[in-house]
Order: sequence, then C-alpha cells, then structure tokens
Amino acid sequence: MIPDKAPVEKDLYHAAPEVVNGAHVPNFQKYKELYLQSTQNPEEFWGRIAKEYYWKTPQTGKFLDYNFDLTKGKIYIKWMEGATTNICYNLLDRNVHQKKLGDKIAFYWEGNDPEDCMQVTYKELLQQVCKFANVLRSQGVKKGDRVSVYMPMMIESVVVMLACTRIGAIHSVVFAGFSAESLCERILDSRCSLLVTADGFYRGDKPIDLKHIADEALRKCRDRNFRVGRCIVVKHLGVTEATGATDETCTVKASSDTSQSPPAKRSCYNLQITWNADVDIWWHDLMKEASDKCEPEWCDFEDPLFILYTSGSTGKPKGVQHAVGGYLLYTATTFKYVFDYKPDDVYWCTADVGWITGHSYIVYGPLANGATSVMFEGIPTYPNVSRLWEIIDKYKVTTFYTAPTAIRLLMKYGEEPVKKFSRKSLKILGTVGEPINPEAWLWYYNVVGNSKCPIMDTFWQTETGGHMMTPLPAAIPLKPGSATFPFFGVTPAILNETGEELEGMAEGYLVFKKPWPSIMRTIYGNHQRFETTYFKKFPGYFVTGDGCKRDKDGYYWITGRIDDMLNVSGHLLSTAEVESALIEHTSIAEAATVSHPHPIKGECLYCFVTLKDGHEFTETLVTELKDKVREKIGPIATPDYVQNAPGLPKTRSGKIMRRILRKIARNENDLGDTSTLADGTVIEELFKNRCKTA
Ligand code: WTA
Repeated sequence: MIPDKAPVEKDLYHAAPEVVNGAHVPNFQKYKELYLQSTQNPEEFWGRIAKEYYWKTPQTGKFLDYNFDLTKGKIYIKWMEGATTNICYNLLDRNVHQKKLGDKIAFYWEGNDPEDCMQVTYKELLQQVCKFANVLRSQGVKKGDRVSVYMPMMIESVVVMLACTRIGAIHSVVFAGFSAESLCERILDSRCSLLVTADGFYRGDKPIDLKHIADEALRKCRDRNFRVGRCIVVKHLGVTEATGATDETCTVKASSDTSQSPPAKRSCYNLQITWNADVDIWWHDLMKEASDKCEPEWCDFEDPLFILYTSGSTGKPKGVQHAVGGYLLYTATTFKYVFDYKPDDVYWCTADVGWITGHSYIVYGPLANGATSVMFEGIPTYPNVSRLWEIIDKYKVTTFYTAPTAIRLLMKYGEEPVKKFSRKSLKILGTVGEPINPEAWLWYYNVVGNSKCPIMDTFWQTETGGHMMTPLPAAIPLKPGSATFPFFGVTPAILNETGEELEGMAEGYLVFKKPWPSIMRTIYGNHQRFETTYFKKFPGYFVTGDGCKRDKDGYYWITGRIDDMLNVSGHLLSTAEVESALIEHTSIAEAATVSHPHPIKGECLYCFVTLKDGHEFTETLVTELKDKVREKIGPIATPDYVQNAPGLPKTRSGKIMRRILRKIARNENDLGDTSTLADGTVIEELFKNRCKTA
C-alpha cells in the first residue's frame, strides 16, 4: 500500500522548488494517482504511453495475458497481442523524421584520454545503424539469429546493438572485461552466428588486447565443435590494416594511423593483433560499401529483443531474454519519469553497455526519448580522480547516474578533487547496482550535488529490464539508503519464509505480484530454469532474490541479496546494514561482511574492512568498529571478527564477491569459480590477514 501522504519529518530530503517546477510528477499525490491507475488499469495506463510510439499494426487481441503460478502450469507473459513494431525505428527513424530531431546530438563520446572525443547526431546514428544492418544482412544474419558483441564503450557498440534490432536479430553483449572462457561460454550457450569486436582499447593506462581475447574465445568454441561464421573487427586503437592476410595468421603492427573510424584523435599504440583471414573482417571495409537505407524488420511485441547473461547461483550464467515491445515501453517510461527528462537535458550514465544498466539507460531509454547522452570510455580515476567532475562541467551534464561503488571509491580522495569543478549544471543524481550506505548517499548529495540535487536510488535487476523501486525527483521525499516506492505498474510484496504477505512494517523476501512490461520472458534455451529460479519458491510471485524492509512510512529499503542475509541467534540481519555501520567510521573506506558459523549463535559476523589512505589497523580500531555496529544496529549485530583487507575480491562490475570472502573467513582454499574476479591478487593477502576463528 502506498500511503496517502508523504511523511513530513525534518530528516527527509525534499525537492527544491527548481526541481518541482515543471516536473512530470510534481508531488506525492500525483505520484499516487498515477500509480493507482497503472496498477488498477494497466491497459489504460500503458495503452496511453504506447500511443507515443510507432506500431506497424495495432494490438488486436488481449492487452495482457500471463501466468505467474507454476502450480497452474507454464509461466508466460504476453502483452498487446497482435501489435507489431521495430524498436530501432522508434529510437531513430521516429525521432529523426516525425520529431525532427535529426540534428540533435544523440551521444557525446568521451574517450579514455581526455582529448579523445567526438559526437554523433540522431541522423548520423540512423545512417550508421542502417549501414551496419545491411552489413549484417549481407553476412547472412536473419531475424532471430544471435549476434555476440564484445566491445569497449564506443559508439559502434550502440550501432551494432541497434542494427541487430533493426533486422530482428538478437544481440548478446558480453562485457569487454570478461575473459575468453566467459565469452566462449556465452557464445556457445546462445549459438551466435557472428561476433563483433574491436582491435583493443585502453582502460586507464592499461591496454586491453581485446581482439586477442576474442581470438582465444573463438578457438575455445572451435575446440568444442562450434564455429562462429564471422568476426567483424572495429579499428579502435588504429592498428594498420592487415595486408596479404591469408589462411595463415599474420601479425600486424600498430601505428598512429587515424584515418579510420571513429574520426577521433588517437595516440600511437603498440598493439599487435593476429589476423585470421578465414573469419576476421574489418568493420570499415564492410561499411564502405553498405547503403545507408535499410527497411526495418517488423517484429511482434513479444519477439525476443536481446539476451544478456547474468550470474546464477549454480555458477552457469543465465541468458536473460527480453521482449521488443515491453522493453521499449518500460525503459522509455522509467527514463522519462525517474530522471524527469526534459529535451534540453544532458544525461550521463557511467555504466558499461555490457551490463543491463548500459542497455536500458545508455541505449534504449535515452534514445527512445530523443535524449542527448554522454558515453564515457574511461574510468573515474584516470588521468586523475577529478575526471568525472571534469566531464560533467565539459558537457554541462544535468543528470548523472552512477554506482555506489564509484562513489565510495571517490570518497576516499576527499572533497578537493570534486570541488575543483563547479558541477553547476547538475539537477538530478542517480545510483544503481547495490544498496547505497547512508554515508555514501550523503557525500553524493552534499559534495557532488551541492545539496540541491535529489538522488534517485533505483533498485532493479537484469531480469526486470528497468527500474522497479525508485524515487521520482519532485514527488517523493528521500531517505538516504531507501529506494523508496514502486515505479508505475510495479506491485511489490514482502513475504516471510512460508510465503505469507507481510503488511505494514516488515522485513523479508521482495517479490512482485504482477508483470510489468519489461519483465524478462525466459532464460534463453532453458525456460524451465526461468520457472524454477524465479517462480518456484513462492508460487504466484516473481521472486527477486533480494531482501527488503518496509518502514513505518511505507518506504522500501533493499537489504541485499537474500544469500547475503544471515541469522544470528534467530535474528535476520542484512550484511549491507552492518557494512553501512562500519563505513560510518572515519577510518573505513569500504567494508564487506559475511556470515561465519558460530557454535552458539548459529551464525556470526565476520567483517573485512579496507582502510582509507593514511589510517592504521589497530586493536583500538577493531573495538571502535564493534562499538559502532552495536550502536547503529544493536548488540545482536556486534561482529565477532574484523579483518584488515587492503583489497576486496570484486567482479569486474564492482560487486563484492562475498562467496569468496566466506571461504576466506573459513580458511577454505577451494574458492570455486573465480573467472569473474577482477583482480585475483587480493586473495593471497586476505588469507594472510585472516582472523583466528573459533
Ligand atoms: C542489487 C543491476 C540495492 C540487487 C541493475 C539486485 C540494488 C542486483 C540496487 C541486480 C539498489 C541493484 N539498491 N540493491 N538501488 N540496484 N541492486 O542484475 O541485489 O546487475 O538483485 O542489475 O543488484 O544486479 P544486476
């Protein structure tokens, strides 16, 4: 239940008048009115939004048909029966021709090196996409075929994704930080007929030999009897063209050749790539000949749009599959309302296109709205820790969307690198990916946002396609660390272990009762796994796997993955809550907590803490930290162990791998699959610093 009124306590953060003026949803009452309409009459609500987009044929059958209850049969979700469209047409042709936005900038591209930048308009993007769509067709790619995309953050990645959607092919983007083995596994699982990659790129001052990793992945595929027809290579670092390539592989030396796309300034790189003329083909050779006119393939509302792999508890990644129409409607609508999008905004999401945030909120949501975005290839600490703030001033960014892990990283360096830049264009901030601890929230709010920009703490998942629980800038007063309320059309519930819905103040499993347009439709090639992962535990509900708390004002607080929950003497605790208490100590930069077996309490807390520069790990500090947690949560949450952790094991997207920390706490050397670990060298140090456990 959404309360009738927003709470008025003074510790809430209310939107400033300049945020409220002209907002799409100006106050809580309006939010509630729209929310009720969206859940009580989805046909009217989403039907009205659908009218803003182009449908080749209208809906003729049922507006929504679904089954969420495994005990009654197969799980399925179908919207707007009979409606056909093309998502690329809606993002580009519609904006260029109907909305007259052809000359508007779609992307400002900012390279890893600050002097490396370019921009692309909607019209230019449409031309590039049509050309590459024709290239794909000429390579034999048809509707329903899978195309793997293994690319850095460059405009061409967007071009490939949209070109696939234009011809009804299914893209499977694999984050360019994944290993050859991971890429191979994903290509095999989705049976991709074609791979698009780049020669290489720089991440900070570290060169990444992407083509080499892709070669290895394709070799691994061949070893497992699967051949990818073609590997299209974008010249990004500017290696010279391979001449005289034969069936034999030949090595080409890099030069400072900048004549090829993209037309940006590049320095001289000393990269070597191996050319396999059987499979490899340069992007620019194919694009030279291609026509920039391409009739879109008209797709059913429910046709698959893309696959994106996300990790699963069994270790085998799940190919989360989204559908064309629902993903369009939902990413477009969440982008518009959550960021209160206005035509003059300059929006910047720092995610990588290899993750769902990059799909929904760099590519689809912003382009559906005709927005101008910044796309950033680099990292927040290169060439210095002011980089993000410098880019905000450079492009006059109004809306900035990033992850708590980036905020905590930059907090370590203090306010000075932020204050060097004015950031005065900023209006709205956002975070995503993990619970944000109140200390990081407040720093983001006060230091980055100059205490005037509301923070949208957006809770969602690869599986949900778009924001699920989120504030709206003008309508919902903020509580640091709370994702606040459900977005339009989202029906959350909190269940206890036996599956009963809990009312009022409560803590338990976060589930959703009804489908929203961009709910995933299946796991590619394994519908049964889709059903058991998300619908088996609590029949009739979509189970997120996250824990959640509702407070006295009806605000939702995500407490982290259920598997990060622990039970100390019969009390359910969330590791995120403990971590947030630890981080409040002035010496702590980052903390991770895992459960550890305890002879009397069942489980106890084992904490890993990373200190800020210049701080020392002492007995006194350990006592202070224990006191801090006791003070914030209660004696029940007092950690039994606190270990010094100069580095934490993280995935390449920055998520802490608590599974590994649990093993370290238990002194178990068999760490299982560590292929997603960004930096393996932290492990040895962690074992060395272990606390002596009972
Ligand atoms: C976590 C990322 C707390 C959550 C879009 C979820 C969050 C998982 C938040 C999905 C948030 C994401 N507050 N937790 N605002 N956003 N999460 O699939 O545990 O990479 O289940 O999608 O991230 O991660 P995924």
